[in-house]
Amino acid sequence: MVSMEKIVSLCKRRGFVFPSSEIYGGLNGSWDYGPLGVELKRNVKEAWWQDMIAQHDEVEAPPGAPGAFDMVGLDSALLMNPRVWEASGHVGGFNDPMVDCRETKVRYRADQLVVFAVALEGPGEPREVVDDVLFAAPGELGKTPEDELLAVHKKRIAAIERGRGRGRRVTIEPRPDALRAEAERRKTLAPGATEPGTLTAPRAFNLMFKTHVGALEDHSSVAYLRPETAQGIFVNFRNVVDTARVKLPFGIGQIGKAFRNEINPRNFTFRSREFEQMEIEFFCAPSEAAAWYAYWRDRRFRWYVELGIRSDSLRLREHGRDELAHYAAACADVEYAFPFGLSELEGVANRADFDLRQHMQASGKDLRYFDDQAATEEARRFLPHVIEPSAGVDRATLAFLCDAYAEDEVGGEPRTVLKLHPRLAPVKAAVFPLVKKEGMPEKARTVRATLKGRFKTIYDEKGAIGRRYRRQDEAGTPFCITIDGESMTSDTVTVRERDDCAQTRVSIGALAQYLADRIEA
Ligand code: GAP
Repeated sequence: MVSMEKIVSLCKRRGFVFPSSEIYGGLNGSWDYGPLGVELKRNVKEAWWQDMIAQHDEVEAPPGAPGAFDMVGLDSALLMNPRVWEASGHVGGFNDPMVDCRETKVRYRADQLVVFAVALEGPGEPREVVDDVLFAAPGELGKTPEDELLAVHKKRIAAIERGRGRGRRVTIEPRPDALRAEAERRKTLAPGATEPGTLTAPRAFNLMFKTHVGALEDHSSVAYLRPETAQGIFVNFRNVVDTARVKLPFGIGQIGKAFRNEINPRNFTFRSREFEQMEIEFFCAPSEAAAWYAYWRDRRFRWYVELGIRSDSLRLREHGRDELAHYAAACADVEYAFPFGLSELEGVANRADFDLRQHMQASGKDLRYFDDQAATEEARRFLPHVIEPSAGVDRATLAFLCDAYAEDEVGGEPRTVLKLHPRLAPVKAAVFPLVKKEGMPEKARTVRATLKGRFKTIYDEKGAIGRRYRRQDEAGTPFCITIDGESMTSDTVTVRERDDCAQTRVSIGALAQYLADRIEA
């Protein structure tokens, strides 16, 4: 498994992702996508939009679907009337528990800060738990809290071993709920603190970014940067039904930025304060909600596999009843085995009629659907139920990068290669003249021009051909097209494949179609 350090280093080196405002020291939880990263991220969004919305055929039911359905798109404003967030429950309840260290001034998410007790074990001796001093540790980039603990509290633990160990081995064991108990917190040594007892009790922290709209900065001008794109869809439900002439079941999809004042942004772009979501709200008759939930859960899992993620790196985790929000009938996470552990890529939830009901009550507007085919008046007007597949663009992009990363040997030399699905690859083809003479550069530019408008390509004539291949392998470019001596007489080129380095001679006239077939396949 690739380490996060390798992914972060490749992203920086090749211009996929940079720390935001880096020349000023960066800003925690914000990232900039460089020239290759922006192409990759756009391709992820484009694949989602094409596969879920634009290419959707409303006449025929796709495999596994309970029936045919419509899909339409939306691009709602980022700033909305603050009453949206009161009705949705975000103002009152979109909280994470936080803990502050009074000495180091560092703030932690309480559920990410794990408290451990040290235990001493020796052959033939009973296990002894040293619980007059406890250690707290957060999991950092690519590390578990256990690894982090042993690193940050190394000296203190070594001192316990020397003082009380008498040759016994030190192990650590988690102390769940220790942060809630005052007596336990008093004994707990926080990361970087010199004395125990500096952590505060957990407090609720609202994750929404507040701002002010207009010139006045008072209570009446408060607005929020949206923490999800979903509410923009719910508040436009009536507009879409009235204008797009869609009938149940149908879905509205949206891609856009979301902002959360995360207490501890971490694991590179995985948890950031500014990120993008790709969300669908799928509206259906209440009696069909369970069947549509199963369809979307499986469809969204399959989408990642179709775009090249190995299915053994993915897991579909159905939530237990105790994990579900009070209004949700079911929820499943699509999880990916990131180098820092199995973590959520996307959530698919059956939200029943919670959101439409909340907005109907708060706005006073009738958001019920009118079914003119229903037999009775009661059956004609009802609130549809909603299935919500909610994916993160940045998390999907990171998962595609991690899964595509490989190190192998070509011609006895080590190489790093990104085996991205050709649909996602930032550059589809690189065009090279074998040498910078004999008319090859001119011919290579002509060949590149035949691909313009269909594929993102680059031209490279610098350095030995092997080095040029290596540069493209690291960028994930699936095809390298070389113009050589034979090209000058036969109007053919060689197409070299990124993954197995196989080379095929293709006529220049057939090249664009050859690439199109391979990219779509
Ligand atoms: N409308 C439902 C909703 O927003 P969520 O589980 O809070 O649900 C959905 O978020 C997806 O958005 C997550 O599965 C993840 O991919 C992405 N996401 C959420 N918070 C994120 C963050 N701080 N950084 C990056 N992506 C995030």
